[in-house]
Amino acid sequence: MSPIIRSRNLIFIISVITFLFIFWPRDYGDKKCPLPIMIENKLNSEPGPLVDAIRSTIITDNKGNQKVYLNAKGYITFLNVLKKQHDTMVYNLVKSAEWAFANNSVYSVTLKPQLPPSGDPHDYMSLGRYFWPDPTKPDGLPYIRKDGYPNPEFFTVTDYVYLRQMFREVQNLGFAYFFTRQEKYVEKAMARIKEWFLDEKTKMNPNLNYAGYRKGEASGWKAGVLDFHQVFRMLQAIPLLRYSHLWDSNIEIGLKAWMTEYYNWLTTSKMGRGESRSINNHGTFYDVQALFLLDYLKRYDEAKTFVLQALKTRINNGILPTGQQHYETERPTSWFYSVFNLQGLFLLAERADHYGIDGWNYEGPSGQSIKKAVDFLLPYALNDGEGWPVKNIKGFEMNDYVKILELSYIIYGDDKYLEAIEELRPKTKAEQAAGLKLAKWEDNYLCNIALMSNRLLWTCLY
Ligand SMILES: *[C@@H]1O[C@H](CO)[C@@H](O)[C@H](O)[C@H]1NC(C)=O
Repeated sequence: MSPIIRSRNLIFIISVITFLFIFWPRDYGDKKCPLPIMIENKLNSEPGPLVDAIRSTIITDNKGNQKVYLNAKGYITFLNVLKKQHDTMVYNLVKSAEWAFANNSVYSVTLKPQLPPSGDPHDYMSLGRYFWPDPTKPDGLPYIRKDGYPNPEFFTVTDYVYLRQMFREVQNLGFAYFFTRQEKYVEKAMARIKEWFLDEKTKMNPNLNYAGYRKGEASGWKAGVLDFHQVFRMLQAIPLLRYSHLWDSNIEIGLKAWMTEYYNWLTTSKMGRGESRSINNHGTFYDVQALFLLDYLKRYDEAKTFVLQALKTRINNGILPTGQQHYETERPTSWFYSVFNLQGLFLLAERADHYGIDGWNYEGPSGQSIKKAVDFLLPYALNDGEGWPVKNIKGFEMNDYVKILELSYIIYGDDKYLEAIEELRPKTKAEQAAGLKLAKWEDNYLCNIALMSNRLLWTCLY
């Protein structure tokens, strides 16, 4: 018998392998876990054709039907690539976890060299990224906005850097624990969470009153709420850490209390309310942040209502029928923000999928959709930005957009995405070589299998 595998069987095998790598029971309280929309949509259709290089065998079955099979070479190539991708991903993941493990510096809001107007070092503070001294004032105060031109002074207040590093490292430790069962990663992640949220000496207060602070003002600015959105990294790692016998439930109790207070701040403070009403990527990422918090707090019914409204608001208002995201294209860094808002929309759709709502295919009243927003960017991506209809001062970086295309292929199954990825790959590799973006986990492998299996959108997008 030649080692010929039917394409259907292949899909089955991929699923089994994927589930073996990734499957993890999720805690839905007493809710039944819904089947991911993306997978449900696919159950009703035949698997698509295999790429030509690996499907060259055609055999007539005993009923006289001709079937295309995966040839032997194609099959072993596939297995080989799968294993290599997996090994590379784990290798890089462990490297980043070791890096996080080895850093014994304190990460804390109390380390910033400048106190916020409250005088409390436990209050988080960050500077408005695009704000500069006003040249018409002797002391430059209050600062004024120059969109698209980041002020390097931003990094003099260290809270932002520590916060993001903490979120990312807890994520890396949690994921590395999942694949290696090294308990030391759990211990380190717990130490970081305690240090940032719970220890009296180093903890952050559960508010962002001085985020996005413009020098010369009395408090922060709503746009600073975006600083916290990467909390999803940590919140996605925690379910993995919980499976360790070392995981300390007191930390979880403390963190839940913290997040409850913070969610209250987010949804009732002037800054939080203001950010929720933002019409561009700030609004999208406000929704993403709130949804991950609601999920962590097990407030599933609220999350479901919230995500439905969020999809409508962000897609109906933020995308034109052409697919142009007009609130992003009016910024000087229009390409960057178009991709960034799409990342937020993908996270929203993933959250929606989580609650049984199909955000991937949701259409606004004039046919606006996430897919249209992806497709709007495609011809310009393939043409080095040629013909891009608006001002753009920061170039056309492709790494993040190609990740969007990978996910789009997995979600929508349209071959045009594969062709585009093939064409754009040399460009993304050149960007990576130039240090623009790190493809840390062998491109999008971890994200792709996660999305195809238990739909945790693990660190997919950036
Ligand atoms: C640990 O992280 C901090 C904050 O980014 C950094 O300043 C420090 O150099 C790091 N330490 C090591 C040993 O890498």
